[in-house]
Amino acid sequence: MNMDLTEAPIGVFDSGVGGLTVAREIMRNLPAEHIVYFGDTARLPYGSKSRDTILMFSRQIIRFLQTQHVKAIVVACNTASAFALDEVAGENNLPMIGVVKPGARVAAQVTSNKRIGVIGTEGTTGSHIYRNYIQDIDPEITVIEKPCPLLVPLVEERWIHDSVTRQVLERYLAGLQEQQVDTLVLGCTHYPLLRSIVGEIMGSAVTLVNPAYETALELKQLLAARNLTNPGTDKKEFPYRFFVSDLADKFKVFANSILPYDVEMTQKIDIENY
Ligand code: DGL
Repeated sequence: MNMDLTEAPIGVFDSGVGGLTVAREIMRNLPAEHIVYFGDTARLPYGSKSRDTILMFSRQIIRFLQTQHVKAIVVACNTASAFALDEVAGENNLPMIGVVKPGARVAAQVTSNKRIGVIGTEGTTGSHIYRNYIQDIDPEITVIEKPCPLLVPLVEERWIHDSVTRQVLERYLAGLQEQQVDTLVLGCTHYPLLRSIVGEIMGSAVTLVNPAYETALELKQLLAARNLTNPGTDKKEFPYRFFVSDLADKFKVFANSILPYDVEMTQKIDIENY
């Protein structure tokens, strides 16, 4: 086993703060691992951009993360997982996972009535990537995808328990309730933060799938399979490092509101240079 590699950090990237829900699950479930997080705050949102643009951004970010000597990369953004993961994974030797496959796999496992709802950005739902993965597992499953573009700004405004957010959610989710889904995938980085209201609206008979959590579990398996698990003997002084492409202070405030860890420093870099 290569000790240097096991102690190398995991690279995690997203369009901005949303991927912190994935970083948070990695921190909780793989506490010995170090993380280098990049949030592309200068160029978000990704959810309304084209595949080519997201692919170009993802390639730049991966080049940056490689300069940080990461041992594996987690594409924490659903839209980037939908549009870029397959291609960038094929271009690099680094182990790479996204958030879509782990979420799709669990949704296909837990549905009883074979009716699954997926909420996400316009990019993710329009790519039909969740539907395709789920139906690869079981072609008899009906997948209903619903873009919910207003939710990301509401979460970023931290209107998480606000009546406006509840109304918006009720409107988005009404069609999925009519379609009698018994499983709902929270297919966007920000939605796990809305989990309790979504659960109240959909009711306890509907299972909510959080791809962020499932991704952390899949990462654990991937690291073990490749002998890359950090033995945890050398805990670094700054086990988690955060980089952004703009507005580092704003990022830090949001990060501190959701992470089980005090983010002391975020560094702005010029991602266009990579
Ligand atoms: N991170 C994005 C996703 O999970 C949501 C925010 C954005 O559109 O950039 O799809």
